[in-house]
Amino acid sequence: MIDKETIRKIMDTANIVEVVSEFVTLKRAGVNYRGLCPFHDEKTPSFYVSPSRGICKCFSCGKGGNVVHFLMEHEQFTYPEALRWLARKYHIEIHEKEQTDEERLAESKRESMYILNDWAAKYFMEQLHHHSEGIAIGMPYFRMRGFRDDTIYQYGLGYCPKERTALASAAKAAGFNEEYLVSTGLCYKRDDGRLIDRFSGRVMFPVHTVGGRVVAFGGRVLVTDKNTAKYVNSPESEIYNKRNELYGIFLAKRAIQKEDRCFLVEGYTDVISMHQSGIENVVASSGTSLTPGQIRQIRRFTNNITVLYDGDRAGIKASIRGIDMLLAEGMNVKVLLLPDNDDPDSFARKHSPAEYREYISSHQTDFIKFKTELFMEDAGDDPVKRAALIENIVTSISLIPDKILCSMYIRQCSNMLKEDEALLSEAVRDKKRGQRIEKMRQQEREQNAETATPTGQTGTQTVASAEAGPAMTAATPASPEEISATRTIIDAMPTSKMKRCEDVLVKLVINYGNKVINVPTDENGVKSTMKVAGYIQACLNADGLVLSDPINAQILSEAANMSADDNFDSAKYFLYHQNLKISSKAAGMESDKYNVAQIEAQDEENSRDKMFAMTDNAINMFRLAYVEKEIDKVLARLSDPAITADEKQNTALMKQYHNLKSLEMILARKTGGSVVL
Ligand code: CTP
Ligand code: MN
Repeated sequence: MIDKETIRKIMDTANIVEVVSEFVTLKRAGVNYRGLCPFHDEKTPSFYVSPSRGICKCFSCGKGGNVVHFLMEHEQFTYPEALRWLARKYHIEIHEKEQTDEERLAESKRESMYILNDWAAKYFMEQLHHHSEGIAIGMPYFRMRGFRDDTIYQYGLGYCPKERTALASAAKAAGFNEEYLVSTGLCYKRDDGRLIDRFSGRVMFPVHTVGGRVVAFGGRVLVTDKNTAKYVNSPESEIYNKRNELYGIFLAKRAIQKEDRCFLVEGYTDVISMHQSGIENVVASSGTSLTPGQIRQIRRFTNNITVLYDGDRAGIKASIRGIDMLLAEGMNVKVLLLPDNDDPDSFARKHSPAEYREYISSHQTDFIKFKTELFMEDAGDDPVKRAALIENIVTSISLIPDKILCSMYIRQCSNMLKEDEALLSEAVRDKKRGQRIEKMRQQEREQNAETATPTGQTGTQTVASAEAGPAMTAATPASPEEISATRTIIDAMPTSKMKRCEDVLVKLVINYGNKVINVPTDENGVKSTMKVAGYIQACLNADGLVLSDPINAQILSEAANMSADDNFDSAKYFLYHQNLKISSKAAGMESDKYNVAQIEAQDEENSRDKMFAMTDNAINMFRLAYVEKEIDKVLARLSDPAITADEKQNTALMKQYHNLKSLEMILARKTGGSVVL
């Protein structure tokens, strides 16, 4: 933990032009600097660095942010890693926040495990390349599989000697503690207390994290037979959570980003062979089905994924279910079917890199189309099977978050299946509604669990339910209490218009929260001065309105509190904010949206009036969005037969409706928005 004061010093010292220049060639362009974007391929520079604002941004791909964001994105650093890098560059001494003894112990334990794994990876390589057994047995095995020597080095492949305590003895001689040999899984302890190597007599595949640290190993037997497991893998440990790692990601990440696509295969050897044949943007899930944690890793680099299958239909059908999760995460999924009897590894060995690329580009199919075709063949004319097929496809489509994409798929499938397009889209809508309600129930359950168990068990629950796959509809019919609970949650949810208006308000707060405005206090033109942030906060408080997103609420309340201070510079304050969500939000905002430079160029009084008009309008827009939602709620209740039957309730609701409608009229007139009467 780095303390606040150190972070402030680092942010004040770091010069974004200097930092970016270490990775990108920059040329002056007016007050800014310009270069080729490091995050995507381009021929004309669209990557800008603004030394005055301390940010960089690519106007083509949109990536960028402050100096820390840049390092996190470019070097795949974590937040503390980026800060440490800057501290080193600018010779700033880091003051760590006090850790508890427990934290220190856990960290030093993890650190020791990393160091041991690192040492072991080197030991296995050494054995493979320089000792007789490795040279005589390990190397011929890899060469027989078609791996070139440079590939073997690149992936850090190795060999573990047959002698069952070879690594254990060498590690102990090198000063490593038995405890870590066991906790990393490199060895296990026999009943008599002796340490035995887990991987003896196997060729070794180290597993690297995205940042390049060795967290685990896979060891393969040289001769496959029924009685020995083909692969032995490191057990899960404090540093290895199998579900969050992807084999090959460390060597693939740059290529994934550049190609804006990731190929997903099953095994270690598939990754290595494809990479060797020039297709470097490839990772493996290592035999398990894909997990949300693994998808998140890929998403840092691309939204496009192609899943490679070998030609076995039964296998495809079994694993195809996992793909729905990719869709739900907003990934664009393609599928590539390899010819019968080939896997990505064998195909690479039989074909030239050019042929491989050509095969991919001509055979990869959009997932929804692929799935529809695959199941259509089976269903034939059987109506029951066809219904199941449609249900299945509709489910997949309904998981795609993007509305336009969804409707394009509906059209495509309606053509393929020869089913009515309106019918399919109705079915997709139903599914989506079911998912929304299920999600809200889920959130509510989590909230309840959170209040019940403050120790934070909910994290694991979320993962567990995500693994079970997206629940389409509730298994049991909802009880009246559940329905009313759900309605309460739906009522509390902001509409998308409210969210948009909220974003506008927050943008104002971040960019101009400290600006002075003239607030008219009576009809005679008497004005008092306030700060933008303070005014927004006061208006919302007066109406009993709150910002729905907790981050936004935090931004507003901090700005309102600080705006009394004349030295407060809101844009800078939020850009360098400790909370990464806040600083990246600030970095993502383009302050020219409101053309404030123009306003500021005018005389002081005039600009204060203009600024007020802008702020007031944004607040009224937010109010209007809120009122519109209230109207929808009342209308929904008015259409409930149970309520309309009760005259008293009905009259109250009607009155409420008319009040809201007149409020809506007033606000709409003020903001220039139109109202449907
Ligand atoms: N796997 C495993 N344990 C096994 C079999 C498989 O952990 N007993 C994992 C490995 O990560 C392996 C992946 O599942 O890479 C895919 O399995 P498979 O296709 O059988 O292995 P390949 O990588 O193709 O290995 P090879 O080509 O050497 O047979
Ligand atoms: Mn294989």
